[in-house]
Amino acid sequence: MKFFIDTADLNEIREANEMGVLDGVTTNPSLMRKAGGSDFYEHIKKICEIVEGPVSAEVISTDYDGIMDEALPLAELHDNVVVKVPLILDGIKAIRSLSSQGIKTNCTLCFSPTQALVAAKAGATFISPFVGRLDDISTPGMELIEQIVLMYDNYGFETEVLVASIRHPMHVVEAAMMGADVATMPFGVIKQLIKHPLTDVGLEKFISDWKAYRAATEAGSNGIDA
Ligand code: E4P
Repeated sequence: MKFFIDTADLNEIREANEMGVLDGVTTNPSLMRKAGGSDFYEHIKKICEIVEGPVSAEVISTDYDGIMDEALPLAELHDNVVVKVPLILDGIKAIRSLSSQGIKTNCTLCFSPTQALVAAKAGATFISPFVGRLDDISTPGMELIEQIVLMYDNYGFETEVLVASIRHPMHVVEAAMMGADVATMPFGVIKQLIKHPLTDVGLEKFISDWKAYRAATEAGSNGIDA
C-alpha cells in the first residue's frame, strides 16, 4: 500500500519524507490556501523536488476547455505531476483526453461507486473517494472503498484506488485490509500510525533497566539485583 501525504505544507512534506515511507503527495485548493505562498506552479515544483512520487495538483476550472488549459502546463511542470480533476461531466471528458495523451490524472471528489466506475472507464490514473466527508454525513465512507476495490478487481481496471479524506488510523487499517492502492493522510495521521502507549511504556522500562545495568556493571557487580 502506498502512503501519500495530504498537504501542501513544505515543512510537513519534508519531515514526512525523511521517514522514508512516503510515496507521494496530494494537494487541493484548500490545502494550498492553508500552506500559503505566492506562486502555485513554483510551489508544486518545490514539492516535486522533495518527494519522489506522484504529486497531485488540482485544476479549478469546471468546463472542458478550462480544465485542459490548466492541466497541460501543470503536467509540463514535472514528470511526477498528476493533474487532479473534479468528478463532473467535463472533468470526465478532460480525463479521457489527458489519459489519451499519457498525462496522469487523479479524479477527485468521488462519493459514489458509479462515479468511480465512470472515472475508471475514462482512464483516470487515480480515483479519490472521500471517506471522511461521507462519514461526516452519516454514510459509511469505507463501504464505498470496499465497493470500488471489488468493482475494479472484477474488470481489471488499472485505476488506483486512492483513499482520501482520511481522518484517523482506522481508516488506513480498513483501507489496507480492503486492498486499496493508496492512502493519502494528513501528517498528523501518518504520525499516529506508529504511536502505541505500550511501545512508549516498554521503551521507558528498557532504558531505565539499561541504565541500572550499566551503573551496576560499572560499579563492579554483575548487574543482577540481589
Ligand atoms: C484528497 O486528495 C483531498 O485533498 C483530501 O483528502 C480531502 O480531505 P478533507 O475531507 O479532510 O478535506
